Amino acid sequence: MAAPWDSELIRRQRQSLGVYQAQRCVDTHCHCLPGIDDGPSSLEESLALCRALVQQGITHVIATPHQLGRYEGAVSAPVIRQAVKTLNESLLTERIPLTILPGAEIRVDERVASLLQEDELMTLADRRRHVLLELPFDLYLDLSPLLAQLQAMDLRAVVAHPERNRVIAKNPERIRSWSEYDPILQITCGSVVGRFGPSVQAASFALMDLGFQALLASDAHDTQGRSPCFAESFAAVNNHFSFYVAQRYCIEAPLHLIGGCPEPLGETTSAGKAQLA
Ligand SMILES: [Fe+2]
Repeated sequence: MAAPWDSELIRRQRQSLGVYQAQRCVDTHCHCLPGIDDGPSSLEESLALCRALVQQGITHVIATPHQLGRYEGAVSAPVIRQAVKTLNESLLTERIPLTILPGAEIRVDERVASLLQEDELMTLADRRRHVLLELPFDLYLDLSPLLAQLQAMDLRAVVAHPERNRVIAKNPERIRSWSEYDPILQITCGSVVGRFGPSVQAASFALMDLGFQALLASDAHDTQGRSPCFAESFAAVNNHFSFYVAQRYCIEAPLHLIGGCPEPLGETTSAGKAQLA
C-alpha cells in the first residue's frame, strides 16, 4: 500500500483549495526541476519548492525549464521528460501531494516551429496543444509570424509574462495585433501582487482587460526571492475584478492546459472581447 501523504501538507493544500473553491489547482509555469536551469540546484531545493507550491493549494505543476536562448542545446525534451519522472518518484517517496508534468519555456526564435516538429522542444504537459513562449524583456518582438506558424501546426501559443516586457508594460495596446491568432496571456503571480513594481502590476491588469484569454502562473524558481505566491495573486485578482474572474484565471484556465477542463474558456473581464470586435 502506498504511504499516506504528509498530513500537514494535505491540510494546508485543502485549506487553500477551499479558498479557491476548487478541487484541483494547476501551476502552468514553474522552474522546479533540479539542476536543469536557473531553478533549484539540488533535489533538496526542488522538494522545498514543491512543498511551498502545495501549501499554496497547487496539486499539479507543469515543469517549464528554459529551452533555447542561453540554454540552447543544454535542455532537450528527453532530459526534461526523464527529470520529471525522477522528481515524481521523489515526491511519492517524500509523501508530497503534487504531480509534475513535463513542459518548457521556450525563448522566441525563428527555429521554434521546426524544432517543435523535430520533438526537440516541449509543448505544455507534452500534449502537443500549447507552447509556452518567452519574449526578451527589453525588446518588443512582433510574434505574429510565429503565432501564424504555430496556428498552422494546430498549436496555440501561451505568452509568458508579457507584462514584464518593458515595451508592452508601457503600452499594453501594442499586442492587439496578435489577437487574430488567439494566444493566451500568462501573467506571473508576482506581477499582480506588485513584486516587480507598480508599473508591471498595472500592466498586468491592463493586459487582462484587453480581451485575450489569460491565466496566472507562478514562474517560481525557489523558496526565497522567486517563491510561489499563488494565494496572494488569487486574492489580488479577486479584489481587482471578481471571485468569478479569479477562478477563471487561476483555476479553470490553467486546468484547461492539462486537459482537465472540458468546457471552453469563456471571456473573463468586464471589457472582454467587445474591445477586440
Ligand atoms: Fe520562467
